[in-house]
Amino acid sequence: MPSSSIKRLTFGGAVVWVTLSAAAAAQNTPATSNDLTPESAVEARRALMRSIDAAMQQIEATAPTSLDDLGVYNLQQQYGAVGGMLLSFPHLFPAGSDIPEPPVAEGGNPSISRPEVWTNFPALVTFAEQAAQIAYMASMTPAEGLADQAAALRSACSSCHEMFMEYRSGVVGPVELPANLPFL
Ligand code: HEC
Repeated sequence: MPSSSIKRLTFGGAVVWVTLSAAAAAQNTPATSNDLTPESAVEARRALMRSIDAAMQQIEATAPTSLDDLGVYNLQQQYGAVGGMLLSFPHLFPAGSDIPEPPVAEGGNPSISRPEVWTNFPALVTFAEQAAQIAYMASMTPAEGLADQAAALRSACSSCHEMFMEYRSGVVGPVELPANLPFL
């Protein structure tokens, strides 16, 4: 029997494949809040980024001007959620979480935070705040302006990644979750 399985997850309508080997999950999941480790911070910030990514993919796949009022409202809510996630992101870099080779889930999407995060942390915070600002502005933008906001937000993702993120192997694949998670 395989030690892990693949699950199809739905985040706000966007379908993503998430992978985390059972072993990696056991290693990274704290039993109590006293057990929070740098490894769990790495796992948390990558999970947060994957949720941001799922929302962003849905945003970019939607033609705002073809939506009714409720559809526009839902899209604006997606932007708002991305804004909140972006503001939370810089809080997930505790001392010691600059792990050069963090445990990577089997088949996972192995991003790493570059050393510049720790040598230039205020810039990371600024990038996060600027990207969040675009997302919050978009959450109040009417349908006609939302395509421009999506482009602006994507460019904010890329600017920050250019400076602070890299993929270890360039492999972007499905991620596995343990089959026994309560919400699956
Ligand atoms: C403030 C800087 C910043 C912004 C803005 C930002 N990211 Fe990231 N992102 C990072 C960093 C740093 C990592 C690497 C985290 C790690 O592995 O420690 C990352 C990782 C990721 C990953 C890989 C997660 C994984 O599974 O390892 C994805 C996908 C991603 N970002 C998507 C996005 C999208 C989409 C946006 C824009 C909506 C965005 N990011 C905005 C800094 C940023």
